[in-house]
Amino acid sequence: ELGEHRHYMHKEIFEQPQAVIDTLEGRITQDQVLVSSFGPKAEQIFKTVEQIHIIACGTSYHAGMVTKYWMEDIIGLPCQVEVASEFRYRNPVILDNTLFVMISQSGETADTLAALHQINHYRKVHDLDGITSLSICNVAESSLTRDADMTYLTHAGPEIGVASTKSFTTQLVVLALLLTSLGKVQKRLSKERESMIAGGLQKLPNLIRMALEHEEEIRDISQLFADKQHALFLGRGTMFPIALEGALKLKEISYIHAEAYPAGELKHGPLALIDETMPVIAIAPLDDLLEKLKSNLQEVKARGGQMIVFEDERSDISSETSFKVVKATTNVGRITAPITYNILLQLLCYHVALIKGTDVDQPRNLAKSVTVE
Ligand code: F6R
Repeated sequence: ELGEHRHYMHKEIFEQPQAVIDTLEGRITQDQVLVSSFGPKAEQIFKTVEQIHIIACGTSYHAGMVTKYWMEDIIGLPCQVEVASEFRYRNPVILDNTLFVMISQSGETADTLAALHQINHYRKVHDLDGITSLSICNVAESSLTRDADMTYLTHAGPEIGVASTKSFTTQLVVLALLLTSLGKVQKRLSKERESMIAGGLQKLPNLIRMALEHEEEIRDISQLFADKQHALFLGRGTMFPIALEGALKLKEISYIHAEAYPAGELKHGPLALIDETMPVIAIAPLDDLLEKLKSNLQEVKARGGQMIVFEDERSDISSETSFKVVKATTNVGRITAPITYNILLQLLCYHVALIKGTDVDQPRNLAKSVTVE
């Protein structure tokens, strides 16, 4: 079943172009997103939505964090994101016309499911019919799909490795479809913009293939981590949640302590950690925030930190510094960039885990489906 792959995680990383194709199938045309793919009730519900509240755990939570940036920036809809275990134990104030989006690969995560039940209860008790829910899951007929008003499946196929890879990627694809559908129904998105997003999603399998071609280069870089116990990931904008996701993956499968920070927070504490032994991984696409990020990287360099930079082919961070650079990718847009750069981090974490000799598919103390809190 593993074929040429040593681990399921590796196999699943390489299945991502196909997983994206399968997830888009029948849901998108050349230049449009099909709102009806969200089900018969969707159009009516989407019309009345005034804010989005995303609830999830772990990697699925990171997909939600990326979405917050997209929602507010691209269609101007207020969006908050919260981990399920926090949401369920506070007394949230929920406004009418809130769309709750529950994200879960397994559809069985105890906290996420309990949060959904709480939302359904709140709606009843407060008589707020405008509160609605959408579950984004990879497993059909899972508990989370049964109890939500709408369900949307990621067609990632079975994910065996405990670390989530292709399910994260396909969650982001579905969230981009959601964003576009909401924007369309509420007339917050021009036809041109919709067509650009649809085009970008269609290019995505190829962009992922191109990212996967960097495997050897990334494997060489992973040697740097052979004797490391700590690492720091930096990003700005949507690359901040991608940095968080990289740090989570590194912790999970290589047992290296990793943290992620929005690069602008560096001076507010973590800069104290930087010395010649600290690897710092920066995610640096060519976007509006690149100049800001570069000055953060200069601060790291001045303290001797070991930099690994994932940058655009057209960028020049490498010419200014002695950092290790992966000339990652080019022609990525607002939606495709976080998805594409994350692929590079998956490869890095996987190869670091190989060097560390850990059980990549079954990391200690973790379960694929967290059905107890
Ligand atoms: C990380 C990972 C976990 C899950 C989390 C939520 O690689 O796999 O953090 O993302 O346990 O699981 P689901 O998405 O099934 O609700």
